[in-house]
Amino acid sequence: MTATAGIPLVNAWNEWDTLREVVVGSADGACFEPTEPGNRPQVRRHKGAQFPTGRKSAEAVARANEELNGLARLLESRAVTVRRPGPHDFSRPLRTPHFDVENQYCAVCPRDVLITLGNEIVEATMSRRARYFEYEPYRHLVYEYWEADPRVGWTVAPKPTMSDAMYRQDFWEWPIEERHRRMHASEFCVGQTEVVFDAADMSRFGRDILVQESMTTNRAGIRWLKRTLEPKGFRVHPVHFPLDYFPSHIDCTFVPLRPGLILANPDRPISQDELSMFTDNGWELIQAPEPVLTNDEMPPYCQSSKWLSMNVLSLSPSTVICEEQEKSLQDLLADQGFEVLTVPFRNVFEYGGSLHCATWDIRRDGTREDYFPSITYEPLV
Ligand code: ARG
Repeated sequence: MTATAGIPLVNAWNEWDTLREVVVGSADGACFEPTEPGNRPQVRRHKGAQFPTGRKSAEAVARANEELNGLARLLESRAVTVRRPGPHDFSRPLRTPHFDVENQYCAVCPRDVLITLGNEIVEATMSRRARYFEYEPYRHLVYEYWEADPRVGWTVAPKPTMSDAMYRQDFWEWPIEERHRRMHASEFCVGQTEVVFDAADMSRFGRDILVQESMTTNRAGIRWLKRTLEPKGFRVHPVHFPLDYFPSHIDCTFVPLRPGLILANPDRPISQDELSMFTDNGWELIQAPEPVLTNDEMPPYCQSSKWLSMNVLSLSPSTVICEEQEKSLQDLLADQGFEVLTVPFRNVFEYGGSLHCATWDIRRDGTREDYFPSITYEPLV
């Protein structure tokens, strides 16, 4: 954990500059995500089957850990320092003044919980009960960076109550027409009464931060991010992908690969008025190819879509890591001039993510740049 000369220990302004230090998640102690107001997990191909609770099997954990360790080894072979979460008893139920939940989840996806914004670590509020304490397995690292370099900032977002009243539970029952109508008003399973966001709804572009309004990030969450980040020189842009009926986490939808290039999800175009920010500033969007697996072929306990295929991790503006079986995506990226590295990662899918989700970049080269010089931006007053 030695800081590169001159660069603060914690330093990441975008998703693509050369990666120096990263946290890779771990499946140790992972549990099934419980049914709760913000989440209705379902067993794929078994409609109506009861979703399991409690610990995942030792075999499932070992399979995921093998692939997570494989990613860690690949990163280390590329001179990236890899850190891992500490132990946490996810099987412990939680009881707060506002809710009870039977077990917690896992530390596979640090991306959902923490984000490095420049020289600052921001801990998200989280949006689900089972993930309320998910920052804990990473706190030893946060303290270590914070103690070791006085330039490191640390901001913890206000914890919401996650009481029943915070959620809009009928969301889960809406018929498709109603879903369509409400979607356009960006109404999801979290209401607007408290500040709610997951870190993975953000994507970093130098001084500009995109935030997806979603099932896991509400408008109050976006307001909190604006008020917190604007005085620090960031511009915060809410973004929407109106054809995604269950939006959560932006990194399977809109993935910047290097300055001027976005990997976009063909099923979930960005709303027309938000596209101009990119086209007016010379950014090109390329469409991700059809994933190898269909939604029906995804692992039975996986709650994410087939678009985990495009959840790539950038090692630099010219090198990207892709899931081993996603050949058409690998070819597309190679055609774009990228060196494409691959690792098997399918056994991690049921823990909520792929390569980008399962990592949290601590330090990349580079500094704050303006990639959108022609933007008109209205800060909050
Ligand atoms: N909601 C996304 C999809 O199914 C999955 C996002 C996973 N990302 C993450 N950071 N956990 O397409």
